[in-house]
Amino acid sequence: MEISKYNFMKTKLYILVFTVLVLTISCKNSTKYSAKKEKTIGYVADKALIVSAREEASQIGIDILKEGGTAFDAMIATDLALTVAYPFAGNIGGGGFMVYRTSDGKTGALDYREKAPLAATKDMYLNDAKEIIEGKSTLGAVAIGVPGTIAGLFAVHKKFGTLPFEKLIQPAIDLANRGVVVTVKQAKRLEKYRELFREANNRTIALDKDWKAGDTIKFLALAKTLKRIRDNGRDEFYKGQTGQEMIDYLQELGGIITQEDLNKYEAKWRKPIQFTYKDLTITSMTLPSSGGICMAQILKSIEPYNIGQYAHNSEKYIQLLTEAERRAYADRSHYLGDIDFVAVPLDSLIDNNYLEKRMASFNWNQANKSSAISFGKIKAYESDETTHYSIVDQFGNAIAVTTTLNGAYGSKVYVEKGGFFLNNEMDDFSAKPGVPNMFGLVGAEANAIAPEKRMLSSMTPTIVEKNGKLLMVLGSPGGSTIITSVLQNILNVSEYNMGMQESVSKPRFHHQWLPDVVKIEPNGFDEETKSNLKNKGYKIDESNSVVIGKVDAILVLPNEKLEGGADPRGDDAAVGF
Ligand code: DON
Repeated sequence: MEISKYNFMKTKLYILVFTVLVLTISCKNSTKYSAKKEKTIGYVADKALIVSAREEASQIGIDILKEGGTAFDAMIATDLALTVAYPFAGNIGGGGFMVYRTSDGKTGALDYREKAPLAATKDMYLNDAKEIIEGKSTLGAVAIGVPGTIAGLFAVHKKFGTLPFEKLIQPAIDLANRGVVVTVKQAKRLEKYRELFREANNRTIALDKDWKAGDTIKFLALAKTLKRIRDNGRDEFYKGQTGQEMIDYLQELGGIITQEDLNKYEAKWRKPIQFTYKDLTITSMTLPSSGGICMAQILKSIEPYNIGQYAHNSEKYIQLLTEAERRAYADRSHYLGDIDFVAVPLDSLIDNNYLEKRMASFNWNQANKSSAISFGKIKAYESDETTHYSIVDQFGNAIAVTTTLNGAYGSKVYVEKGGFFLNNEMDDFSAKPGVPNMFGLVGAEANAIAPEKRMLSSMTPTIVEKNGKLLMVLGSPGGSTIITSVLQNILNVSEYNMGMQESVSKPRFHHQWLPDVVKIEPNGFDEETKSNLKNKGYKIDESNSVVIGKVDAILVLPNEKLEGGADPRGDDAAVGF
């Protein structure tokens, strides 16, 4: 009896010591290698999923899938629904990029970016003293690029559509007639921009009311426009009544877009940029978006350092990414522009040897200074408001789309008869070398204004594969911060084993060479990390940007189900079945 009691006590003691040991080791591992942690999972769908800026838009796309449509059909329906439900960025008066991967693994991209009007000139935003005229490239009729969205959606339909276009546009028409309930965030935004609506339009516009959360806004003029597009097709927007009303209004406001500009607009199919990061194959947007190239440069620059060994959002993690970002954005500002107009040394820019040399001056003890880092030397070569949505359909097709008016409600110019806003995308050009645009980005000759040229973008619709299978679909708004938001989410999932919802909800940071600051989301980073970074010479900016990016993403789970990541920074929603 005594002996057995003793043995029992001894066993208990052994168990206790063993448990403490295991716990200590696993705790150590979890701080050092956070990749070992359990995945936290959000909203999961069995077969098909859409994540977008508004639940109405995600739901409309899903309804199309349920009727047997594909991701391409759903894209058209979702996009048009966002024009109604999310006029802040959803649009027919702007442009965007789409990256796709079909169920059999084929990838491609569509560029329906706005273009500079024929009458645009290099110095159009400068005064006689060659100084920037404040606001001219951001507010009002002269800030507008020739819109590409309708051309883009019809191009998608022509190549991939399986359901009639009329069926895909009808839900947006119905939604516009029925109206959309104003959310708290939306009410704040409408209030914030009301003065500018008046300024840009020289009058009050239909949206210019004291909207409260819970009110319903009906978009009756827009419903009529969409109906005409349904009945008359693509030409309605570019050559029909809608185009004519737009041109008349812009001329009244002193704009420079003409009927000829609308006649000449074409969307373009492009070969997306594709590169590897460790065991991932990443397909993303190529020029005229800098997104894919910049992201490739950053990920390839950090690849040799095995970033996953450092805790997520720790000092070393932030430092390494910041230094890679600094160099990539310096290259962006010098080399990148519309590939139809300027020669860009794409292969050299993402060459491993080149990137290794670029990182040679990185020092763990001290921040590099942007003033001391310029664009890299390449051997001779021939001469940020937006919205993103991600779709995976029941057939396995995946689509990433980022579309924009540029600033909030674009140029604020509202074609009253048509019921839609027009973009201010011209601000994405470099209006004067070295002078920052609204996202603080500087550019040079490669991104100078020229008639019919597409302005350089940062939009980064992206699809990630692992072992030849679809893994993630993602993208974000946020101007210059889009690229770094997307890549942080790729790292969250691949290096830190996060689920998709957990990943998009994590605090983010951003560096873009100039200004030489690390922007961080307020309250997202611990004091010690911030103070250590400051001691090494990093300037931390918590004030300027309340949110960095707004990522809507899909992750294919090991059991092949789909997890949605709908960014809590907005009213975004994942809907699936
Ligand atoms: O194309 C670009 O990079 C910018 N026009 C995107 C603007 C944007 O993301 C605004 N959203 N916050």
